[in-house]
Amino acid sequence: MTAPVIAIYPGSFDPVTNGHLDIIERGSSIFDQVIVAVLLNVAKEPLFSLADRVAILKEVTRNWHNVEVDTFEGLLVDYAVARKARVILRGIRAVTDFDYEFQMALMNRRMQPQIETVFMMPAEAYSYLSSSLVKEVCALGGSVKGLVPPLVDEYLEKRMPRHRKKQR
Ligand code: PNS
Repeated sequence: MTAPVIAIYPGSFDPVTNGHLDIIERGSSIFDQVIVAVLLNVAKEPLFSLADRVAILKEVTRNWHNVEVDTFEGLLVDYAVARKARVILRGIRAVTDFDYEFQMALMNRRMQPQIETVFMMPAEAYSYLSSSLVKEVCALGGSVKGLVPPLVDEYLEKRMPRHRKKQR
């Protein structure tokens, strides 16, 4: 019997978008287990706390039974080894993502050659979508409906109510 293929889907998820969910769904249909790993990055000032990001991710992925949500700090490859993952899953939206992703994949491979980075493309509708654009649009009063799960919209409403109300 071959060992189950575990894939780590790492990121900041500040906040999770429908583009991320698209990749999680694609990954969960191919790999035996997908671990969505939220980076605890002390250098970055996130909009949402780690606890909020994890709570949101757990809720919006709860129907996928082979998807787990966890946190990590330090090197991604160390975490992947600890979790016995063979794959690092990353989404590529456009060629602009490629340079950064290529560098990370090769650096990770240099450190842990047995771990393979697998890239997946989200649906075209999400090819321009990013967590930072979601935050910017939202902060300036624009709508992100359809781009993030409704739960994220609720959290954004709590975080940025003043700016969003200006629009109404
Ligand atoms: O969603 P993001 O912010 O683009 O995700 C970036 C992430 C978390 C995948 C990357 O920053 C990462 O792997 N950080 C962990 C530290 C690490 O391993 N750095 C070396 C990468 S070659």
